[in-house]
Amino acid sequence: YHVDWDASAAEKGGYEYFMLKEIVEQPRAVADTLLGRVGVEGTLTLDEMRLSAHDLRDISKIVIIACGTSYHAGLIAKYSIEHWCRIPCEVEVASEFRYRDPILDRQTLVIAISQSGESMDTLMAVRYAREQRARVLAICNVNGSTIPRESDGVLYTHAGPEVGVAATKTFLTQLIACYLVGLYLAQVRNQKFGDEINAVIEQLAKMPEQVQQVLDTVEPVRTLARSLKDAKTVLFLGRHVGYPVAMEGALKLKELAYMHAEAFAAGELKHGSIALIEDGVPVVIVVPSREGRGVLHDKILSNIQEIRARGARTIVIAEKGDDAVRPFADELIEIPAVPTLLQPLVSTVPMQVFACELALAKGNDVDQPRNLAKSVTVE
Ligand code: AGP
Repeated sequence: YHVDWDASAAEKGGYEYFMLKEIVEQPRAVADTLLGRVGVEGTLTLDEMRLSAHDLRDISKIVIIACGTSYHAGLIAKYSIEHWCRIPCEVEVASEFRYRDPILDRQTLVIAISQSGESMDTLMAVRYAREQRARVLAICNVNGSTIPRESDGVLYTHAGPEVGVAATKTFLTQLIACYLVGLYLAQVRNQKFGDEINAVIEQLAKMPEQVQQVLDTVEPVRTLARSLKDAKTVLFLGRHVGYPVAMEGALKLKELAYMHAEAFAAGELKHGSIALIEDGVPVVIVVPSREGRGVLHDKILSNIQEIRARGARTIVIAEKGDDAVRPFADELIEIPAVPTLLQPLVSTVPMQVFACELALAKGNDVDQPRNLAKSVTVE
């Protein structure tokens, strides 16, 4: 007998590209990050963090440092950490952080987020932070890599190997790790939000299922992406946690489809960027959940109306059943309704699929985009 067997196809689990496989692996990856860390009645076990409850009570400031997609995870983390823990939290790209003489001390917790654990800019920022006697916690995917080895503690994301250069499943799992850190800190330090914290922990356990729901309904996004293959630019708008999600959507499109893409905070539109809107410009808008953030939802509705009146083709990502946005959406991408702070876990997925499919329609290699390496080990 002659058996056709292709080692590379087998590694990709039958998909043509690792990226496609890694996108569909996300529900499992998210479940693996949570595994063993969320116990009955909302107890969180994060022993590997190697930071005692006493250390955590002492913290007066959090600084998150990271690059690229990991930086976007940090931006999203800021919203939940400040809300749940009431600790000031700064987020900065590692290459900027270390050259500006930042103020750190024993009471500063530095969180370094890095999939590879080898990004040189992040590593140098970690070394700088430790020299300043700050405590450093790494959120990392690769076991035993340099950044966690040089940090005080680590929370591994357990997403499994990510081969595609574009971060997908590692981004979602970094978000989960950030939520866990925020919730744990809140439990240790702040009783005020007790009920909310417990509700979020319960909701987190349901997220693998919600991410799966997005994947199950994502087919129209592929068709839409193919129809935009000759667009010159795609703009992305968001508010609150939707803003860093918009930034992530734009980055994915740039790195995979080699096209111009830019994200704006929707509220900033009228301060300049609305001048870019002309007939037919595709704009992807992330609409905040209606739950608890009604004001933001209404504000973005008027932003959508403003750009549509000026000719934009509106591609709206909104939660299922959000009938208010329907009349203003040229294309509507529905995602499950989840609490606002967790929405990035579901709103990012259509963006990944969109960028991947558009890049494939252009004939690009989505696993190995031009000019890029999986980890950047030079400054
Ligand atoms: C994301 O798609 C990119 N591959 C890139 O921005 C990446 O997130 C960045 O280089 C940071 O890498 P790290 O998480 O391994 O430190």
